[in-house]
Amino acid sequence: MKRIAVLTSGGDAPGMNAAVRAVTRGGLARGWEVYAIRNGYQGLLDNVFEQMLARNVGGIIQSGGTVLGSARCPEFAKPAGRAKALSNLRARNIDALVVIGGNGSQSGSASLAAEGFPVVGVPSTIDNDLYGNDVSIGCDTAINITLEAIDRLRTTASSHQRAFAVETMGRNCGYIALMSGIAGGAEVIALPEHELKPADVAGRLRAAYQRGKTHALAVIAEGAKCGVKELMEYYGAHRKDIGFDLRVTRLGHVVRGGIPTAADRVLATRLGAAAVETLAQGRHGVLVGIVKGDTAVTPLAEIAGKMRPADASLLELARVMAI
Ligand code: F6P
Repeated sequence: MKRIAVLTSGGDAPGMNAAVRAVTRGGLARGWEVYAIRNGYQGLLDNVFEQMLARNVGGIIQSGGTVLGSARCPEFAKPAGRAKALSNLRARNIDALVVIGGNGSQSGSASLAAEGFPVVGVPSTIDNDLYGNDVSIGCDTAINITLEAIDRLRTTASSHQRAFAVETMGRNCGYIALMSGIAGGAEVIALPEHELKPADVAGRLRAAYQRGKTHALAVIAEGAKCGVKELMEYYGAHRKDIGFDLRVTRLGHVVRGGIPTAADRVLATRLGAAAVETLAQGRHGVLVGIVKGDTAVTPLAEIAGKMRPADASLLELARVMAI
């Protein structure tokens, strides 16, 4: 291995920069040349490469987002797009590519690997929905941002005897909602992995007041079937029977922003370095992840098109804790 390239792709995630730094410095430490590609797969198609030295990744471990830029790139999903990407990589004599990104990005890695190019994936998505990996870069920060919002909303909920619903991101995975809901002591958590109806959510919020609570808070995952829209419609139609108001906060992209937590920085550093180590061992076509606390590799062909759901069995724990 002499020359590697690295890119960040898909939705940005706090900790991506720490991963870029780890790949860059890990590669340089082995005497390799490291090239950054700007704006994800789009930059690969546009042939935007930049050589990275140790100082180029100085002072970025603590910054959110990605200094390399990111993009969603539908063109790369087509065979013609990938052919262009491969020809750009080969023209620069790049020996291997490290892709830091989430589910869609690693499906892209799997396609490149299937077409014969050495690729290693590093899981980075706030959604934490990658198969073959227990914890993705960015999800700890996203959980903590959601938790801060829950804690803040609880104080005003208690003062006004209102019910609150907080919607957090996560696409089709309820991991952020589940973890922040448990940590924040939510009365109800609605996930894509477990069906709940608006009447169930309203009933459980009302029951919390009837049990003498001064607040009642629901955490709603972005992908839940009972979303905030359905919940607001239900409250609008049944306001008189319910007896109290509902206020809704949609956190949206706030959940993805800001500085990465220590856990995300350490995880990103471990996984970035492990990606380089994997390439040094002559292995590629894999995702480098964390499985049961240790770094582990899973073939990209095995993870493509699959998803890791949140563990809905923890909802029972959340329910008991909210009595
Ligand atoms: O995959 C990360 C994520 O933030 C999801 O949680 C969310 O559904 C999606 O990206 C939003 O995508 P975009 O930033 O393209 O609107």
